Amino acid sequence: MATEKKVTAIKNTPKHLLGIQNLSVLEAKEILTEAKSFIKLNRGSSKKIDVLRGKTQINLFFEPSTRTQSSFDLAGKRLGADVMTMNMGNSALKKGETLIDTAMTLNAMHPDIIVIRHQDSGAPNLLSQKVNCTVINAGDGRREHPTQALLDALTIINRKGNIEGLKIAICGDILHSRVARSNIYLMNMLGAEVNVIAPKTLMPKGIDNLGVKSFTDMKKGLDGCDIVMMLRLQNERMQGSFLPSKREYYEFFGLTPEKLKFAKKDALLMHPGPMNRGVEIDTKLADDINVSLVKEQVELGVAVRMACLKLYCK
Ligand code: CP
Repeated sequence: MATEKKVTAIKNTPKHLLGIQNLSVLEAKEILTEAKSFIKLNRGSSKKIDVLRGKTQINLFFEPSTRTQSSFDLAGKRLGADVMTMNMGNSALKKGETLIDTAMTLNAMHPDIIVIRHQDSGAPNLLSQKVNCTVINAGDGRREHPTQALLDALTIINRKGNIEGLKIAICGDILHSRVARSNIYLMNMLGAEVNVIAPKTLMPKGIDNLGVKSFTDMKKGLDGCDIVMMLRLQNERMQGSFLPSKREYYEFFGLTPEKLKFAKKDALLMHPGPMNRGVEIDTKLADDINVSLVKEQVELGVAVRMACLKLYCK
């Protein structure tokens, strides 16, 4: 008897998750549907299944991370994979080895999945051309952070039921933010209207070509919004001076209870973390469980990464 093969939008090849820009609506929806099934598992007392038993996952984080690295680590372990998180600060990179030589070395050990975060835009794409296994982008330079956008989408769907028809504001350092780019692609793809709000110096030229409306005024940009996503100032990517002072930035662009009133009455607040309290967000507002989805974002991040690992590791 022929065995029935599940038809999925995510094909055997290419088998990399490099960015939202490379995804179809069907693929994005498939990841979100799969992730929903893991929310319950993660809340239960027994969190482990064995769909990736026998598979090897290597996490390569060339930039600091708390949320993404730990959730990919947990996600792989909960699916039964053997997970190795490299300590890049203590690797042969310190002796001058290149990214590609590091990748070729690890590739020789036959991993099934490499999860990579790198300071250079395009590093995961380059890696994917050099190895035989699945590559998942955990954030590259200012280009993309696809699993962050997917977990943000799942968090919104969990609270609002749907993304289609919502008005979403993304506020702060749009210029240096991979989270902003991935979210612009995904929220547009799923039918939301997207506003971006930033000081002129932190607004990328040509941003309107990505299908968003841009504002330099919080009052105008937040008008009628259902979701307010705040972003951190990405100081590590800034060369030169972009702002007069953090105090001035907070006054005009920091989200306070007063500014949140410009959005819809039932608007919810999101932040990918790490947060700089008192810079882009009022500290009490960040912890206000009536409006802040920050903890839920972290929780659902594990479910989304489990879904990505399961669907992309063939
Ligand atoms: N949101 C995010 O990518 O956080 P980490 O840098 O802690 O992974």
